Amino acid sequence: MSHPVLALHGLSKQFTTRQDLAARLMTRFGMARKPPVVRAVDDVSLTIDEGEVLGLVGESGCGKSTLGRIVAGILEPSEGRIEFRGQNVSSLSGRERDNANLARQIIFQDPFSSLNPRQRVGSIVGEAPRKHGIIKGDFDAYVCEKLREAGLDPALRSRFPHQFSGGQRQRIGIARSLAVDPEFIVCDEAVAALDVSIQAQIINLFMDLQEQFNLTYLFISHDLGVVNHLADRVAIMYLGRIVEQGPKTELFARPNHPYTQALLAEIPRISVRHKSFHAIKGELPSPLAPPSGCHFHPRCPHAMDICARVAPKLQEVAPGQISACHLNDKS
Ligand SMILES: Nc1ncnc2c1ncn2[C@@H]1O[C@H](COP(=O)(O)OP(=O)(O)OP(=O)(O)O)[C@@H](O)[C@H]1O
Ligand code: SF4
Ligand SMILES: [Mg+2]
Repeated sequence: MSHPVLALHGLSKQFTTRQDLAARLMTRFGMARKPPVVRAVDDVSLTIDEGEVLGLVGESGCGKSTLGRIVAGILEPSEGRIEFRGQNVSSLSGRERDNANLARQIIFQDPFSSLNPRQRVGSIVGEAPRKHGIIKGDFDAYVCEKLREAGLDPALRSRFPHQFSGGQRQRIGIARSLAVDPEFIVCDEAVAALDVSIQAQIINLFMDLQEQFNLTYLFISHDLGVVNHLADRVAIMYLGRIVEQGPKTELFARPNHPYTQALLAEIPRISVRHKSFHAIKGELPSPLAPPSGCHFHPRCPHAMDICARVAPKLQEVAPGQISACHLNDKS
């Protein structure tokens, strides 16, 4: 029996955005308006089992990265809790908290921005494990092993990040994450910036590492082809909320939510690989003022009266598949 490595319970994150000049002037003259608030993540609950890959997809700005950062422990949620290995991470402190944070790593789209240009690759990879006392034997041997695991030639460890290609730099980022012995990795568009042939190599690396180290992934991607290739289960996000979730094969074959159906309809079945979605009818509403009720109602071909009034709840529509749509309400 598999068991969840990670469980999110009612997770939300609000950002208060900067007021524009007009709003600041109104506040000054006593006509205070509340500063605009974005609910980037809105009451998200989900679990990820050990060794599983959960693909997270949705249009730009729907809250994927915010959720990924919260899961990786680099952003605090406004509400809700994260359980990692059965423990509420916010109740941990000291060494326990450090260990839980090290065990959850995040890999970004552009590793270059997070690699110190003046630091040699060997030191980039070895810094965190040395600081946290993870390296028991020889430092240099440890760094070489991690570079090798990420598919890099250890002989290049005294070079600087700019001396590597995009794909190699992503491997440096992966080696740096592996070096702290993670159990869970958030990949945030981790292959989006790479050429297709390099993408395939990095995807294969992620899959090999998963097997070798029994890793669990939250894999955020715009590319349904990539998700189709990698994920066991898929969660679809729309304006901060999970609208559908289920086993990949079932969800792709029988999408329940009209938004998922619209995403998949954009992609000719035959060439599901390497197709992003961006052509759903209607504009993506501003996350600052999401539509009432079901956020998708202004774009939904099946919208009914209730849709603008009541937010639909996630309910099971097939084994392991849940969807938030009033079309599933039993009358
Ligand atoms: N630090 C922040 N301050 C204010 N607003 C933020 C901040 N970070 C994210 N947001 C807002 O929260 C919403 C969700 O952003 P997020 O980056 O999580 O989306 P995303 O799904 O990852 O988008 P993309 O696909 O473009 O990467 C957006 O409206 C964004 O503008
Ligand atoms: S709840 Fe209504 S608007 Fe939302 S997806 Fe279902 S039918 Fe469409
Ligand atoms: Mg993002």
